[in-house]
Amino acid sequence: MTATVIDGQAVAERLRAEIAADAADFQAQYGYPPGLGVVLVGDDPASASYVRMKRRACEQAGIHSVAHLLPKESTQEEVEAAVEALNNDPGIHGILVQLPLPAHISEERVLGLVSLDKDVDGFHPINIGLLAMKGREPLFTPATPTGCMVLLQEAGAQLEGANAVVVGRSNIVGMPVALMLMKANATVTICHSRTRNMKDIIAQADVLVAAIGKPAFIKGDWLKPGAIVIDVGTNKVDDPSQPRGYRYVGDVDYESALEVAGAITKVPGGVGPMTITMLMLNTMKAARRLAQTITL
Ligand code: GUN
Repeated sequence: MTATVIDGQAVAERLRAEIAADAADFQAQYGYPPGLGVVLVGDDPASASYVRMKRRACEQAGIHSVAHLLPKESTQEEVEAAVEALNNDPGIHGILVQLPLPAHISEERVLGLVSLDKDVDGFHPINIGLLAMKGREPLFTPATPTGCMVLLQEAGAQLEGANAVVVGRSNIVGMPVALMLMKANATVTICHSRTRNMKDIIAQADVLVAAIGKPAFIKGDWLKPGAIVIDVGTNKVDDPSQPRGYRYVGDVDYESALEVAGAITKVPGGVGPMTITMLMLNTMKAARRLAQTITL
């Protein structure tokens, strides 16, 4: 069997065209564009690159963006002041605090300060709490997990009653995607660094979400034949055959998984482009909610 490739890039491009049309409608209706505010603390090159990509994608879709780029030695008060400024800015509808923050900054306090109405990253503890509770819905769900869910839908995954295995338990991906799969009525197992019989658990997975940050860790012969595999990993590995000397691989060994899985995402070109797209979608949702509240 050769798996169907789930083309995240194509899905993202389709959705971005819809978002751009919606942003243009918004601008025509209200006379101002939807706005995203970004807080980046420090000079981590990967974070700076993510922030540039997010801002560029927003601008291309007609979403205005404002960035607070703070030095790494900024104080807790300075970071909180940047969030407060965006909370109070009527031209900003969504706020993104790029993670990780430097070690001396309390992430918990900063994320808790983001206005619930503008929490387009879905990391406010109230939104995460609502995601975890039965019969409740958060205002926004985190971007990467939401992108995973959209790709599962694209692949035709039947989640109701399915065995879904999430590998990784981070606050950004593993934990929220597990909660979203549970909301979709899957039977969810979370594996992590202390899990004993990971191969046996993965062998039962109708749906597998891999988010551990270990290059090509999960091998094709671990998978249940026909499984739908979403690979969130983006791991830089040396490759002298590439002009840059490196390439990116996922957490799943793509070549061997292709022979066993029913459907699989590529790295790059799978979950990555969806993350930014979900942030843009959340920003549009926030802008529409806030604009309606003001008009009423
Ligand atoms: N760092 C890595 N992924 C993310 C994300 O989705 N949102 C934010 N804010 N920071 C991140």
